[in-house]
Amino acid sequence: MASSLISRQLVLSLQKNLWRSAPGCRYVSKAAPQTQQEWEYDGPSMKTSVPGPRSQELTKQLGEIQNVGAVNFFCNYEESRGNYLVDVDGNRMLDMYTQISSIPIGYNHPALLKLMANPNHLSTLVNRPALGILPPENFPDKLTESLLSVAPSGMTRVQNMACGSCSNENAYKAMFIWYRNKERGVSGPSDEDLSSCMINQSPGCPDLSIMSFMGGFHGRTLGVLATTHSKAIHKLDIPSFDWPIAPFPRLQYPLEEFTRENQQEEERCLEETEDLIVKWRQKGKPVAGIVIEPIQAEGGDNHASANFFRSLRNIARKHGCAFHVDEVQTGGGTTGKFWAHEHWGMDDPADIVSFSKKMLTGGYYHKTDLQADKAYRIFNTWMGDPSKTLLLGEVLNVIRTERLLEETARSGKALLNGLYDLQTRYPSILSRARGQGTFCAIDIRDDETRNKVLLKARDKGALMGGCGDKSIRFRPALVAKEYHIQILLNVLNDVLAQIK
Ligand SMILES: Cc1ncc(COP(=O)(O)O)c(C=O)c1O
Repeated sequence: MASSLISRQLVLSLQKNLWRSAPGCRYVSKAAPQTQQEWEYDGPSMKTSVPGPRSQELTKQLGEIQNVGAVNFFCNYEESRGNYLVDVDGNRMLDMYTQISSIPIGYNHPALLKLMANPNHLSTLVNRPALGILPPENFPDKLTESLLSVAPSGMTRVQNMACGSCSNENAYKAMFIWYRNKERGVSGPSDEDLSSCMINQSPGCPDLSIMSFMGGFHGRTLGVLATTHSKAIHKLDIPSFDWPIAPFPRLQYPLEEFTRENQQEEERCLEETEDLIVKWRQKGKPVAGIVIEPIQAEGGDNHASANFFRSLRNIARKHGCAFHVDEVQTGGGTTGKFWAHEHWGMDDPADIVSFSKKMLTGGYYHKTDLQADKAYRIFNTWMGDPSKTLLLGEVLNVIRTERLLEETARSGKALLNGLYDLQTRYPSILSRARGQGTFCAIDIRDDETRNKVLLKARDKGALMGGCGDKSIRFRPALVAKEYHIQILLNVLNDVLAQIK
């Protein structure tokens, strides 16, 4: 085996020693007297292939009620712990996909269990309020302790929402409202604005647009779907807006080896982006906002340089467009910084930053002038859920006390180096290993082989996800240590050796 693909025995002893020798790695949370190693399982354990018989039975049962085409298998969440997801057939798998990248600190973290067992929090669990009109007494404090404690640079306001799509939907609305208010100046909406909007006509419903990028993914609801361009199946048969779509750079990896080629590619994309903004203004559909992911995830883990994003931010400013960074998948620490846009090194990275997934609640941070000017313009019944904000507060405590951002940077390095290694060993199957923190991916030679690798790895106890046409994405929780990464790399190596 290659040097970094160490034997299983070594993995286990590394696992033990890492915990003993690195005090910073110990579970220091008050709620977690045990070390992660004592509390977590010591490796995958497979009893059947996946889905096993019980999963198949339940899939059939659920199939009588709804479409089950996407169901992988059924889970036993009570038995799942840390980085390990247990299924209903008793299979225990190392989870490097974490419910589409949405589990921040693993399954059943003791700190979260303790929080939820506290009787003082029962009413938060039982009574789900309409937060926009009847928030609980502690809500401002809870927002300050949780969401605002990790607010992106320059942002002191946050709007909580439920899921990623509805966070982006409302962020787009905020950008349109901001843009029209800017155009109107001090005068409010005219009578014509108010009457025409009721029948979906301008000027009340103006011909404004949101610019997005080819390969981007911002959700599946109607408005944001117009800015999603990752897979046809998401968009087929759904009416959409005629909004500009800019090219996202197609970079060569490893990035450090192709700086000149990548810079040229990024310059080409930036030039075209600016041309499109001008063109759409001339078309009478000015661009009110630009939306972009720091790393295109669903679309295939496509990266761009800090310089690209800085230039794009400047283009947005120059043309009076709001700049919306969608951190639904990249946010919450997975890239080794809390927000992926922090890697750009900017004081003023965005006007809006949306989040969900690892943040447990959805929502968006925004600059003060993107605050909607009147009640009910950005609104829905629940606007999030205080029980999720409560959980997020504790997740953030764990991230801080257990220094999980550093841990993620460390595990990410081990993962990317391991992928480089595998790529050298299996050049006819693997290419384009890439990543930031543990937000890593690699390309497989074709879609069919990619799917085969994913299924075989799952049967050997390691869960990963697909993205783009033929990539595998890795999205471990922030509690994935180097020894978990070594287990994953060993499984992958075994699978690739069989496929070769
Ligand atoms: C970048 C990005 N934006 C938005 C969304 C939509 O989030 P949700 O599925 O919670 O609606 C996703 C989901 O994968 C995403 O990755």
